[in-house]
Amino acid sequence: MNPLEVTLNRLHLRNPILVASGTFGYAREMQSFAEFARLGGIIPKTVTPLPRIGNPPPRTVETASGLLNSIGLDNDGIEAFLDKHLTYLLGLGTAIIVNIAGHDIAEFGQMAKRLNPYKEIAAVELNISCPNVSGGVDFATEPKLTSQVVSEVRAVCDLPLIAKLTPNVTRVVDIAAAAAEAGADAVTLVNTFQGMAVDWKKRKPILGNVLGGLSGPAIKPLALRIVHQVSQAVKVPIIGVGGIQSIDDVMEFLITGATAVQIGTANFYDPTLASRLVDQLAEVVKSQGCQRVTELIGTLQLPNRSGCQK
Ligand code: FUM
Repeated sequence: MNPLEVTLNRLHLRNPILVASGTFGYAREMQSFAEFARLGGIIPKTVTPLPRIGNPPPRTVETASGLLNSIGLDNDGIEAFLDKHLTYLLGLGTAIIVNIAGHDIAEFGQMAKRLNPYKEIAAVELNISCPNVSGGVDFATEPKLTSQVVSEVRAVCDLPLIAKLTPNVTRVVDIAAAAAEAGADAVTLVNTFQGMAVDWKKRKPILGNVLGGLSGPAIKPLALRIVHQVSQAVKVPIIGVGGIQSIDDVMEFLITGATAVQIGTANFYDPTLASRLVDQLAEVVKSQGCQRVTELIGTLQLPNRSGCQK
């Protein structure tokens, strides 16, 4: 028995520690640092139907409270991904979750159809939440659109499906429910929070694209709140992401209801972190007197609030 194994509907992972899309390149970049085969899985940078040059520089800026990025889905397109990266990735001895984005619903369907024959792909993550491209978050701001994009992909692709959702909406719960109902095996909560950095002396925004997505420790409480709200309201496995940089952060997400987590911004300054977290998680499971990590998932005890409601 593997005590760290987790199952998210049709997606099986040897452990819940994944690395987030856009923070780990196509893994080659990380090969001298990370022990890929120890990870629960790798999610490479988002792939689009055609190559994209991305947004004008500067594309990243460190703020006092996290990293702002506006990369703009810079990538070489799906054909180059299949030619240059997929075989390498599938040989790394860990689950590969391919992250895709389309400009419209039909493009999501076309890309999913193209990936469908590659049965070694562990899952497809739908990036319906990129804040940095026109229309990028639209599919995750309206339950109806979320449902349409997930259904379109489900119809042409029988790989496990994950919908990566945006926090930049009023009610993520409704979007998560729509994704689950349309057939998503899991939801990733959450992509970055839209933000901005300004150089007041130059009277200019710092990012070339003006707005960007904030990630890092500052967003952890916000992401945890969303994981909590969705886990209380929707029956769908959750992959938590947002500011995780220690085993305590991992445990907070798991206890709150995430079945797996993604390490994101921390990969930039410590590419060895994710593999170390796997060992630390095994130790925590043991020290808590559990046989399996699943015994700890969703064990948050909420206060009984009935006495306070007058
Ligand atoms: O701009 C970017 O490439 C970011 C993508 C994302 O946050 O999904």
